[in-house]
Amino acid sequence: MWRSATQAFVLLHRSMSMSTALPPSPIPLLTSVASYRQWRQKAFDERKSVGFVPTMGALHDGHLSLVQKSLAENDLTVLSIFVNPAQFAPHEDLATYPRTLPRDLELLTAQQESLCRYFFRRSKTCIHQALARIFRHRRDAFVEMKGYGHQMEGASRPTFFRGVATVVTKLFNAVQPTNAYFGQKDIQQALLLRRLCKDLLFPHPEADHVHIVPTTRNPNDGLALSSRNAYLSVNERKFAPTLFKALQYAESAWSNGESKDRCVSGAVAVIDKVKTQAALDGVEVRLDYIEMNDSETFDVLDASSNTQLAGDIPVILSGALWVGKTRLIDNIVVGDLNRV
Ligand code: PAJ
Repeated sequence: MWRSATQAFVLLHRSMSMSTALPPSPIPLLTSVASYRQWRQKAFDERKSVGFVPTMGALHDGHLSLVQKSLAENDLTVLSIFVNPAQFAPHEDLATYPRTLPRDLELLTAQQESLCRYFFRRSKTCIHQALARIFRHRRDAFVEMKGYGHQMEGASRPTFFRGVATVVTKLFNAVQPTNAYFGQKDIQQALLLRRLCKDLLFPHPEADHVHIVPTTRNPNDGLALSSRNAYLSVNERKFAPTLFKALQYAESAWSNGESKDRCVSGAVAVIDKVKTQAALDGVEVRLDYIEMNDSETFDVLDASSNTQLAGDIPVILSGALWVGKTRLIDNIVVGDLNRV
């Protein structure tokens, strides 16, 4: 159900340099923020809405579900690909993060034949350089979400949300979207960015134009699609859905009125059981965390909290699990996210 004939994809790619040949594609090229701004001004003048999907590439059906929603709800759609160094800690997988630009382009082209797409590439004024600077100098302007970025994922990855909030602020300032689309897969990221727009009065997008799209899963075993799933060996892949199964266990215990403590310990027991089986198969399964948090403050729920005590506030059940050397995250939200 595509809406308009002219759409735009903005593609940013860290490994792309002036000397790197782009894959063949009938795509016009924008080399600077200034030329994007011209394009954007035209859209403003023509009162066309611009939907924006920020990504780090290695696209899969989860990303494409955001693209489809944006295409359906906006006159124009912009997609960025930028593997953002600022959100990777030094020991994390920045160097090995999958970069699959030719395939990404094919997938995007298949979304709609008549799309017109734009790239940013390196140049003095280019967004790519502005973004990369964050990493090189470590003394740039940063956006820090005090009190929101240090729980859940932030507890395991202390500098992660600073990197995300900074790069997305830059992207929002460049792209100036009417609507922005994020996946529930990274629920804390999506809610935190909505909060950022609210607290700092972003005009593009306004906070209530930051949309959260449900997680796309493998239809057979429920594994949430993720670019990092590409790291899993065939053997490891068998154990990857364990986290979702554990979260489902906790969700059902919660809806049966069990306390938070019992929901979490039950979920951990699900993982422990699989851990033993996986070890026999030569796969290391290791829990990072499973927790239940308030979706507004991200605070951990009290141990004795239950459905009665939590009332109407949506609760986030989330976790991170190592399967071999791959760190997988997932979540289930109990309640209506539009209340946050
Ligand atoms: P990336 O991991 O590439 O994800 C881009 C967007 O796709 C995010 O909003 C993410 O939540 C969404 N997404 C990923 N897997 C999904 C799935 N299975 N179902 C639905 N949506 C899914 O998240 C980032 O990039 C970066 O942190 C970014 C926001 C681009 C900032 O650098």
